[in-house]
Amino acid sequence: MAQILDGKALSGQILENLKTDIAHTVAEGAPPPGLGILTVGNNPASRTYVRNKLKKAARAGFYTRHISLPQQATQAEVLEAVRTLNTDPAVHGFIVQLPLPQGLDEDQILSAVSPAKDADGFHPENLGRIVAGHPRIFPATPAGVMRLLRAYEIPTEGKHVVIAGRSRIVGKPLSLMMADREGGNAAVTLIHSRVPGPERFTRQADIFVSAVGRPRLWKAGHFRPGVTIIDVGINYDEEGNLCGDVDFPSVEPMAPAPSPPSPAA
Ligand SMILES: NC(=O)c1ccc[n+]([C@@H]2O[C@H](COP(=O)([O-])OP(=O)(O)OC[C@H]3O[C@@H](n4cnc5c(N)ncnc54)[C@H](OP(=O)(O)O)[C@@H]3O)[C@@H](O)[C@H]2O)c1
Repeated sequence: MAQILDGKALSGQILENLKTDIAHTVAEGAPPPGLGILTVGNNPASRTYVRNKLKKAARAGFYTRHISLPQQATQAEVLEAVRTLNTDPAVHGFIVQLPLPQGLDEDQILSAVSPAKDADGFHPENLGRIVAGHPRIFPATPAGVMRLLRAYEIPTEGKHVVIAGRSRIVGKPLSLMMADREGGNAAVTLIHSRVPGPERFTRQADIFVSAVGRPRLWKAGHFRPGVTIIDVGINYDEEGNLCGDVDFPSVEPMAPAPSPPSPAA
């Protein structure tokens, strides 16, 4: 029987803890934490993500401010909206929802976000601080992977962690966090689309994390028994069904037995 790392249950517990903490600080007279979100255009997946982020933030007690620009917004208009959020004292951190419409300079826009308000941790200064070993904020998805492993008391120190995907929002920062002395302390292998025969590496993994974006790419034959697998992928197969990068029914029998998560971890 496989151990399922229940990220949904853990996030629910974290949200409840956050709600209590925010209620206390607000009762003591502090302003609520403020989360801003800037969206450009009408990407359907982004609309769903943003709706959920705003809903959860509001439920936890955040003040939220959503700036929504049309698909045709110019670079100058997007940069102006970034400046608005940078200078809004009620917004303590904000997200520029990616992907941005084609034609916009994503690097310039992310670099215009004040590093102190960079809620996603994508600003070059914040990514650089992770490399330098003085992190201010971690990108959310890699931070979620580390938190999930901690909550289930799955050690990373001295383990071989294989990560598939080298995007700057998931795979690359996660590889640094896993290798870091104050972080995962793991031996890390980062694979990507230019690595032929990935099973050479995946079969050696104690922990495998996939952030590739290919439906059900990884099957039982890619792994050895007892491996811990975290599937970050959010994909749709040819029939339009939501699925991950991992062929879950195929790998499920390979993992160890269940234990509940600990949100305090
Ligand atoms: N759960 C979450 O919170 C969350 C957050 C962000 C993203 N996601 C999901 O995670 C997945 C990846 O997102 P992303 O933004 O990181 O993607 P991305 O920027 O498209 O990067 C994908 C990475 O996967 C590599 N890759 C592609 N095909 C591969 C293959 N056959 N074998 C090994 N590596 C391969 C690519 O290699 P190259 O560099 O060589 O092209 C690239 O490094 C998507 O499904 C996305 O929806 C989930």
